[in-house]
Amino acid sequence: MKFQDVISINDFGKEEIEYVLKTAKRLENELNEQKILQYAKGKVLATLFFEPSTRTRLSFESAMHRLGGSVIGFAEASSTSVKKGESLMDTIRTVEKYADVIVIRHPREGAARLAAEVAEIPVINAGDGANQHPTQTLLDLYTIKKEFGRINGLKIALLGDLKYGRTVHSLAKALSYYNVKLYFIAPQGLEMPRHIIEEISDKVEITETNDLESVIPEVDVLYATRIQKERFPDPAEYNKIKGSYRIDLKILNGAKEGLKIMHPLPRVDEISYEVDKTPYSAYFRQVWSGVPVRMALLSIVLGVIE
Ligand code: CP
Repeated sequence: MKFQDVISINDFGKEEIEYVLKTAKRLENELNEQKILQYAKGKVLATLFFEPSTRTRLSFESAMHRLGGSVIGFAEASSTSVKKGESLMDTIRTVEKYADVIVIRHPREGAARLAAEVAEIPVINAGDGANQHPTQTLLDLYTIKKEFGRINGLKIALLGDLKYGRTVHSLAKALSYYNVKLYFIAPQGLEMPRHIIEEISDKVEITETNDLESVIPEVDVLYATRIQKERFPDPAEYNKIKGSYRIDLKILNGAKEGLKIMHPLPRVDEISYEVDKTPYSAYFRQVWSGVPVRMALLSIVLGVIE
């Protein structure tokens, strides 16, 4: 199976998703073998980050190095000719002369799609505005599979800023391919967009609420997200809503024994640090999943493994 770009989870069927997860597992198992360093030998990854990132950029770079490839790029557009007024299209047309694959994060929805239309080399979306973050979704699914051995049959709650949080938009769509029950828990005003609910509600059972405490005893996965301060048009609105939910030891009193808490990170104050030491916390193992999953995506779009 091959695909050229990774722009939206909507472009993936369940078969493609399962193929990525299977390839990630294979590459994770091969990590200590010499042959892995041959897969992307001589290939160059360009990471174009027009928005801040720790995990996505560094895990892509780690993945490319572990495949034997090399990396160029920028973490701040202000250090590039964008600062002089160069367009995204011209930036992409330039970078593709230097690289074999582009990973792009951009504040504008649709920027990754535009880049893919312009570029003749593969483009991977590392987050476009409040729209999508498809590679995060694939690593989230990989993490769930590793934690539980399956995705089917689980009760999964998505908590927090479901309006502006791009990770939960992609994840909700991908989870609708599986036999799961979803809970969307959001403060008032930050609910999951209607168009996403309409898109998936005939495939998966959904409960919407703003009462975290009542849902905690039911769920196997609690996927928390931060409130996306940078996407609020009015800072006063953010100040009204910030701190409106928090996972701490007290609220976890009624949790299932096998509950796993996930978070795409960074966190602000939505998970108390005391939770890190409990068996519920899966978010730093989730961070690691970014490496095998992004190794798989790079290998597939570069066409370097069977
Ligand atoms: N999960 C995620 O996208 O993290 P970064 O913003 O640090 O890349």
